Amino acid sequence: MSAEYESVALSGHHDVAGFDCGVSSLNAWLAEQALRAQQAGTARTFVWVTAEVPEKVWAYFSLAPTEVARDVLSRGQSSGYATVPGYLLARLAVHTDLRGLGYGGQVLIDALSRAASAAEAGGGRLVVVDALDNAAASFYRHHDFTPVKGDSRRLVLKMANVRKLLG
Ligand SMILES: CC(C)(COP(=O)(O)OP(=O)(O)OC[C@H]1O[C@@H](n2cnc3c(N)ncnc32)[C@H](O)[C@@H]1OP(=O)(O)O)[C@@H](O)C(=O)NCCC(=O)NCCS
Repeated sequence: MSAEYESVALSGHHDVAGFDCGVSSLNAWLAEQALRAQQAGTARTFVWVTAEVPEKVWAYFSLAPTEVARDVLSRGQSSGYATVPGYLLARLAVHTDLRGLGYGGQVLIDALSRAASAAEAGGGRLVVVDALDNAAASFYRHHDFTPVKGDSRRLVLKMANVRKLLG
């Protein structure tokens, strides 16, 4: 992670309404749903802030437990069970002012590392993403995610490969 930014759990102090990643549904999720989902225990959101202006959000991602049906996975991704447990990277976005500077990749590493820690404590074989559009799917393919069978927008990365990626 860039030294300038720190990744912290979302709280009521963050200016969620001021965040703009250029995709209205992702802005609206952060502004209207993320804190409620966190309080309900359905998804956990982390935001990137600076020490100087700790309420300003520069990037965020949300993680939630999930499971994937074995029959949409390749043999190496699945296990002996009908469903395979993992973590859904439910949202990930970078402020438009930071686009194309390498931050998206760093935010993804942050999200994967938190998913890997959760898997270390409680299991989980996959990280799953539902890409919003083809550009987002391409971003995840660039980072070694592969589409599940029959859905090019749902992509997975094995936790074993996450650990390799994180070194
Ligand atoms: C997708 C998003 C997170 C990328 O963030 P970013 O900061 O612009 O991307 P980065 O500069 O960190 O790029 C990291 C790497 O991914 C690559 N990349 C970025 N966007 C890409 C795309 N659409 N397709 C393929 N590769 C992509 C970059 O070339 C770079 O490669 P490198 O590390 O080999 O040099 C950002 O554009 C964003 O927030 N978009 C709106 C929200 C969104 O679509 N989120 C996806 C959730 S479904």
